[in-house]
Amino acid sequence: MLERIKNAVEYIKKRLPEQPEFVVVLGSGLGKLENEILDPIVIPYQEIPNFPQVTVEGHKGHLVYGKIEGKKVLMMAGRFHYYEGYSMEEVTFPMRVFKGLGIEKVILSNASGGVNPSFQVGDVMILKDHINMMPEHPLRGKNIDELGPRFVDMSKPYDLDFISIAEEVAKEKNLTIQKGVYVGLQGPTFETPAEYGMVRYIGGDAVGMSTVPEVIVAKHMNMRVFCVSVITDLGGPEIAFPVSHEEVLNAANTAMPSVIKLMKGVLEKG
Ligand code: HPA
Repeated sequence: MLERIKNAVEYIKKRLPEQPEFVVVLGSGLGKLENEILDPIVIPYQEIPNFPQVTVEGHKGHLVYGKIEGKKVLMMAGRFHYYEGYSMEEVTFPMRVFKGLGIEKVILSNASGGVNPSFQVGDVMILKDHINMMPEHPLRGKNIDELGPRFVDMSKPYDLDFISIAEEVAKEKNLTIQKGVYVGLQGPTFETPAEYGMVRYIGGDAVGMSTVPEVIVAKHMNMRVFCVSVITDLGGPEIAFPVSHEEVLNAANTAMPSVIKLMKGVLEKG
């Protein structure tokens, strides 16, 4: 594993003019953030040794390096979901590589279904915590002590400074943001009304199919994590609206300007 990480890191290092400070992982429907990068250097996943490969044709799969708000940012366009059949090791391998590159600051994004009754479609929620409901844990198995400890402190999964900065930015730029708990489920089905009800009952504000494994592995390596989620649909035991992937992408697209403003502010001040 360490050797596999090292090979990927060495290849990417050769392609980059300098060490990135941030990594930004793009979620469903949020790919347009890539356009914010100045003088982009694109590295397709196929070129990176040991990197998982995108199996769905037409899906993006590359890293992009460049500057946003003067900050050195590496972006991951095309993430690996557990429901696609990737192992947890594959889902989280990129995060191992980002740490290997010397990156300490992680910004994740995703689309999620809102279960907090005060949420609306198109809302932007910053994560204050999560609940891991995935069927497999990315740190199960022999611990690799060079990467992090056996038992990982998860008392502050989302960096409190980043959260304060995001709240400050939202105030300055007049953006309404929500703050909440993200519940990570396996998917790929959207939830039944009873399942949305469960998510609410156990303390969730939103539910999605990504992010949690990556955050766990980032925390294993003591990285600082910030995550922003776009509420793309609403669910609950009494609300039985149909949800479609298309709808998710449309709502993410509508929220894009707010997400861009928020992320740029966090990059600038973070
Ligand atoms: N459930 C799970 N994942 C999602 C949803 C949802 O309602 N919306 C976007 N991703």
